[in-house]
Amino acid sequence: MTNKKHNTLASALPEARRIHDEKVYLVENRAEKPKEIFIQIRDLISGWKNVGAQNIDLLDVGCATGDFLSYVAREFPKFSLTGLDVSSKMLEVLGQRVPSANSIQASLIDDDALGGKKFDVITCMGVLSIFDSLEKPIEILLKALKPNGLLIVFGMMNEYAMDVLVRCRYSNLPNEPWQIGYNAFSREYYERVLNQSNVKLTYSWRKFQLPFSIPKNDDLLRNWTVSLDGDPFQQIRGTSQLSTQYILQVNLE
Ligand SMILES: C[S@@+](CC[C@H](N)C(=O)[O-])C[C@H]1O[C@@H](n2cnc3c(N)ncnc32)[C@H](O)[C@@H]1O
Repeated sequence: MTNKKHNTLASALPEARRIHDEKVYLVENRAEKPKEIFIQIRDLISGWKNVGAQNIDLLDVGCATGDFLSYVAREFPKFSLTGLDVSSKMLEVLGQRVPSANSIQASLIDDDALGGKKFDVITCMGVLSIFDSLEKPIEILLKALKPNGLLIVFGMMNEYAMDVLVRCRYSNLPNEPWQIGYNAFSREYYERVLNQSNVKLTYSWRKFQLPFSIPKNDDLLRNWTVSLDGDPFQQIRGTSQLSTQYILQVNLE
């Protein structure tokens, strides 16, 4: 649709879906060889002041097939584990891999997806870039934390003070839906949403740096690394984005 006033072809963003995850996660099993980010988050949880408490409930949002939860089950065998994901196919695999974990099939932003249940630790990796704004998902995550709880969010964040909404498609597959999942929100936006929440919290950032290279793959939506600006392993992807990733740690008071 032409936007006559500005004489551009600007229109509302096209309808889009997230279809990439099942293609990747249903065929890969990272349970035995944990991703580097899982190891770094394990270390963060190990250093958390309440890690030794009894009956720690951990929720992994966007848990996919349970690669992280199966690692947590080995590293923290006393934790009670829950995985939430929109994909029932992924949760079926979670049930086989980590039979002790509870599963919830819902979108994070479904009203009452968690039915009022609260957790000591919530992890949310590679998920918030799926949403077009942060207010609602962050409010839900904070509400689902118990007092003194720990929230760990990991994902691509824009190092510059710009919030970027992305829709993409493989140009050679024009009949596939446009895809979501690659929005890059600035750390300023994350901080604004946290500062405006009505719970008492503190937060800190840690830049995630891969300690190895990833070769380019035929799938342009999978990250690969290039040497850039002193970083030998800067991640990029075929959307023309630098995939700069941060770990955001939020502690409730
Ligand atoms: C990029 S994958 C990340 C998987 C896993 N957290 C990891 O880091 O390996 C994103 C996951 O979020 C799930 N997801 C997509 N939309 C979601 C939503 N609205 N609510 C909860 N999970 C969602 C996908 O099914 C997928 O398992």
